[in-house]
Amino acid sequence: MKKQRIIGMFDSGVGGLTVMKEILDQIEDVRIVYVGDTARVPYGNRTLEELIRFGEEIITFLISQGAEIIVAACNTSSATALPVLKDRFDIPLIGMIEPGARLAVKHTKEGRIGLIATEATVRSKTYASAVSKALAKGVLPQEQRLSAAWKQGEQPIALAKAQACPLFVPLVEAGLANSAEARGIARTYLEPLVQAEVDTLILGCTHYPFLTPVLREVLGDGVVLVDPALAVVEEVRELLSRLEARDEAVPVPEPASSWRVRYFVSGDPGLFRQVGNTLLSEPIGEVHKVSWGE
Ligand code: DGL
Repeated sequence: MKKQRIIGMFDSGVGGLTVMKEILDQIEDVRIVYVGDTARVPYGNRTLEELIRFGEEIITFLISQGAEIIVAACNTSSATALPVLKDRFDIPLIGMIEPGARLAVKHTKEGRIGLIATEATVRSKTYASAVSKALAKGVLPQEQRLSAAWKQGEQPIALAKAQACPLFVPLVEAGLANSAEARGIARTYLEPLVQAEVDTLILGCTHYPFLTPVLREVLGDGVVLVDPALAVVEEVRELLSRLEARDEAVPVPEPASSWRVRYFVSGDPGLFRQVGNTLLSEPIGEVHKVSWGE
């Protein structure tokens, strides 16, 4: 019998549920401990020092809950604090940026990649360098014509436009992902990306996949929307098999109970459950309150 590994995940709020859903849909035999730091949402206008401190507190908590892998299901933390956190913790830590950049390079047809994200993620320019690094490591577009043109130096592939969308996270947290307000704000935010003629758009904040219907309505079908979560699942899968190989000889204890996800939030558990229930197809069960001594 396979050991049920515990994956610890965190975000500022409900956004990381988009990543959690992909992991649960695609990987059996895992359990998730999810932290939504809703008392301190949004993360998008926090300083690097704050994001490092929040990450340290949450990762320490997740390890105490038995997590063997941590997914920073938050682009803002991934783009800023993650390198420091990786140095401070001896546990595999997966972020959103490299997987998202790789996926965008694979999907672009014209080499004009766009990004929507929080202020902090856009300011960090981490996605722009991750796109260049992915190409340098040999990741290529699936589109043969573009791939060949790029190799010949005839057509660039790069982040053509990055747009901060600070109002999107509060809208999703308030349960307004599919509202007239969201539609109006999306029109304003997406206009510069339309002007820049991006062919592929990275949803560079884990809250944004909940806005997909609205984004589609504004952009039409001509732009490929890239959700980094799909590539994060692959990284989780690889890490799990490495842990499996490492622990092959270790006897596996029977799971003590049958839980699949445990939720913890630093803000209002009732609000998290209410909004989470409207966003996910399966109801969120009990949500526990956790505090970081602030
Ligand atoms: N969902 C997060 C992200 O991916 C955090 C957004 C925020 O709290 O501003 O960036």
